[in-house]
Amino acid sequence: MHILSASQFDRSFLDNICQLTDSIRKYSKSKFGTKYLQSLCSDKRAMLYFTQASTRTFLSFKSACQILGIQSSDVRDTSTSSEVKGETIEDSLRVFSSYVDTVIMRTPTPGLCDRIANLLDQTPRPIPIINAGSGPDEHPTQALLDIYTLYRSFENEGGLANRIILMVGDLKRGRTIRSLSLLLSNYPNIKIIFSAPKEFQIDDDLRQKLSGQDFEETEDFESVLPVADAIYMTRVQDEYDSNGESKNIPIEKYYLKYEHLNVISPNCVIMHPLPRRHEIDHRIDNDPRAKYWRQVRNGMWVRVALLTKVLEVSENLLP
Ligand code: NCD
Repeated sequence: MHILSASQFDRSFLDNICQLTDSIRKYSKSKFGTKYLQSLCSDKRAMLYFTQASTRTFLSFKSACQILGIQSSDVRDTSTSSEVKGETIEDSLRVFSSYVDTVIMRTPTPGLCDRIANLLDQTPRPIPIINAGSGPDEHPTQALLDIYTLYRSFENEGGLANRIILMVGDLKRGRTIRSLSLLLSNYPNIKIIFSAPKEFQIDDDLRQKLSGQDFEETEDFESVLPVADAIYMTRVQDEYDSNGESKNIPIEKYYLKYEHLNVISPNCVIMHPLPRRHEIDHRIDNDPRAKYWRQVRNGMWVRVALLTKVLEVSENLLP
């Protein structure tokens, strides 16, 4: 099983991942449980192929590997690899895949993970590929940890259905936005509000993928704040600028300010995939509604759950 796009998951997979993650967190609370987790994949190896800037997702996966006893190796810089000798990326990854049981990839190139997964599927040794971020395109593992964070936050409040989720920032190039929006369509009666300056509004391809999903686009951030059950803030993705054009787009109006704590709902869930710039006032960090630190830790546990799925040991964890 590959993890390539948020659109590959259905509701039963999402429920299963949330349950599995809960179970893994329980195991991790005791020394015995921690040892058990470490034994599950101690015969497995993973390659972290991260050729686009990343420290948090890299470390999140690396820690997830450690929790399961997986030995990991990494490629972070292709300038020291045979790709500079003219080797195709397909050949390079086929070579790397021979040493390991799964390849976790973050690349600036949309579609590359799918290409490599298809290629390996036609070889005698088709190992799973995990997309850890593919350019502005998709970030399915982030979307799964976002879903898990929402699931946990609403667990005692009637669940994730019937919610209004407000997404803010660079919605055009934010891959976390794209992947999470696709996953949300698995839950009944969800409304997504996309709030951004028009230059950063979602693209047509996402609009099309969301046909059948209730969503709204607005430039009026302040007016939608009070109705949101969750607010998902994101930064400007200016690494994809062609000419520094983001600098001319006024984004300050879309920042979550300290004063906004008085207008948002008392149970609102505030999220951010991080890294943060100025989108969320630091004074909000200590408010119980701020869930972005918990989101980071959830990410590590959800990645443990995903690794047990792709390495086919997850049945050892559920009752
Ligand atoms: C996000 C990403 O890389 O897409 N970060 C992450 O994975 N934690 C969001 C971002 O970089 O803005």
